[in-house]
Amino acid sequence: MPRRLERGARLVLASHNPGKLAEIAALLAPHGITVTSAAALGLPEPEEDAPDFSGNARLKALAAARAANLPALADDSGFCVAALAGRPGIHSARWAGPRRDFSAAMARVQSELGENPDRSAWFICALALAWPDGHTETFLGRIDGSAIWPPRGTNGFGYDPMFVPSGKTLTFGEMTAAEKEADTHRARAFAALRAACLAPLSSAADRETNNATRGNATRGNATNRQ
Ligand code: IMP
Repeated sequence: MPRRLERGARLVLASHNPGKLAEIAALLAPHGITVTSAAALGLPEPEEDAPDFSGNARLKALAAARAANLPALADDSGFCVAALAGRPGIHSARWAGPRRDFSAAMARVQSELGENPDRSAWFICALALAWPDGHTETFLGRIDGSAIWPPRGTNGFGYDPMFVPSGKTLTFGEMTAAEKEADTHRARAFAALRAACLAPLSSAADRETNNATRGNATRGNATNRQ
């Protein structure tokens, strides 16, 4: 039985990114959960040195939960290319360098792929919930598609302009925020977390948040290639 977060709970988001705080706070509010950021509490950011997304999400969530003595939520995500053995994977942000140049990161993906006809790629998001006693629950969301070249679109961030999800024609970089967010690795991971750990929504609140969290996802970290 997964451990649940009851209505009225206060949660720390183990991220210093204000965009993520707003997005996660909006997803959790209908479940009666309020969110404070690790930055607001002055918590340090731990080294992300685990070998996979789930491990990194877990270590960030555990560090925040222990430091704040509250349940904590952390995420870790990245872009994986089959013909590159899943790289850049957990190193997705690092491939952009200190200047966060994602044009250069995408060019590196293309240069390493060369003429390889296998363009299969996917995004992964791991979400970890941790409690101060060390208990954790981890969820993975994955969205499959193709790494295209040249990149298309100026919306979104990171590797969005070179990723077309399976069954679609637009890249994430060409989609509106609402089109992208309707079905992403993050939405899928959150749907799994919601089903396992959050109090049910009232039907009105459910209708409002349904679009943001629709999709498939998996619980645990055993089988997904990262
Ligand atoms: P983090 O989980 O915030 O550490 O993000 C890791 C990196 O993965 C980001 O810097 C992006 O490069 C990449 N990434 C994660 N999710 C997405 C996405 O939805 N679109 C594009 N790039 C993403």
